[in-house]
Amino acid sequence: MAILFIAEGDDPADYRPLLDQELGGVDFRIWPEAGDAAEIEAALVWKPPAGVLRRFPNLKAIISLGAGVDHVFLDPELPRGVPMVRLVDRSLTEQMCEYAILGVLRHHRLLPRYEALQRAGEWRKYPAPDTERTPVGILGLGVIGGAAAGKLAALGFPVRGWSRSAKALPGIACFHGAAGLSAMLAECRFLLCFLPLTPETRGIIDRTTLAALPQGAYVINLARGGHVVDEDLIAALDSGHIAGAMLDVFQREPLPPDHAFWRHPAILLTPHIAGLTVAASVVPQIAETIRRARAGKPLANVVDPERQY
Ligand code: NAP
Ligand code: GLV
Repeated sequence: MAILFIAEGDDPADYRPLLDQELGGVDFRIWPEAGDAAEIEAALVWKPPAGVLRRFPNLKAIISLGAGVDHVFLDPELPRGVPMVRLVDRSLTEQMCEYAILGVLRHHRLLPRYEALQRAGEWRKYPAPDTERTPVGILGLGVIGGAAAGKLAALGFPVRGWSRSAKALPGIACFHGAAGLSAMLAECRFLLCFLPLTPETRGIIDRTTLAALPQGAYVINLARGGHVVDEDLIAALDSGHIAGAMLDVFQREPLPPDHAFWRHPAILLTPHIAGLTVAASVVPQIAETIRRARAGKPLANVVDPERQY
């Protein structure tokens, strides 16, 4: 039985030898060289082309090579009944937390302003920051958002978090559901997005959400570009209501060269690197998923097809 690798932008050579070692030999095929479709039992995927996954009648697991699975749900012909599994990984979570803390502290400690002063050769001091009076809002209190919320709270920021279901996390003011969102946004000096991209969360950072933040708030999106309504963010930045934004993800990636985000003075952008999948870190859980799928056992980190996360 074989494993199919269909992952745009990922190098199969990072995975093949490690999986071979973990599974004691593996028939590893790289799309489009799938061979006999009936032999494919697991697919490792990132942005699989639409209509491909349904060609494998004995597929037992679709394994996303990331924490997010929105890229798989883009396929309107996904095979029904095949479990979809996502990554839950220490390295991914750590990287995402680092990016979040970097974005918050960079703005909180006025680093761009001090860099400008250095370029101007000017010795000047701005007022001291007041961390305990700087509320941070976190959209999504799952594996990654929950970890980032805890780390930001440990730095002394009052942290407010929002999820779909009600939660109680130590040291975090938790809000949930549509009614909880506007309550959470009021007073947040930072808004960080860690939501999965689903039909419910697409476009959530729009003019209404941005207007509900206090004047001068800062937005960090490290989840998916589809969470942000680009023109609403640009309008909020241009009006001065939102002070700035740090963006790692975009509706179209690579970000088109003529997109206004590239040159906006209040935007810092990075090329979807907030959390990179490290093969050596994730292969043990991928191998375990394959072993369990082969044995007909229940899988970990299975995505709910209704909720799409
Ligand atoms: P997760 O564990 O599934 O957590 C998702 C969180 O979002 C949960 O708290 C969930 O609420 C909440 N949520 C989902 N739909 C909601 C809704 N309609 N309203 C309110 N809250 C909602 O996901 P994760 O592992 O933390 O990953 C989050 C996302 O980060 C991924 O989906 C991916 O898109 C992104 N990511 C980006 C990068 C990067 O490099 N930029 C890297 C890794 C991940 P409940 O707790 O109530 O279910
Ligand atoms: C990266 O974007 C991921 O979903 O892991």
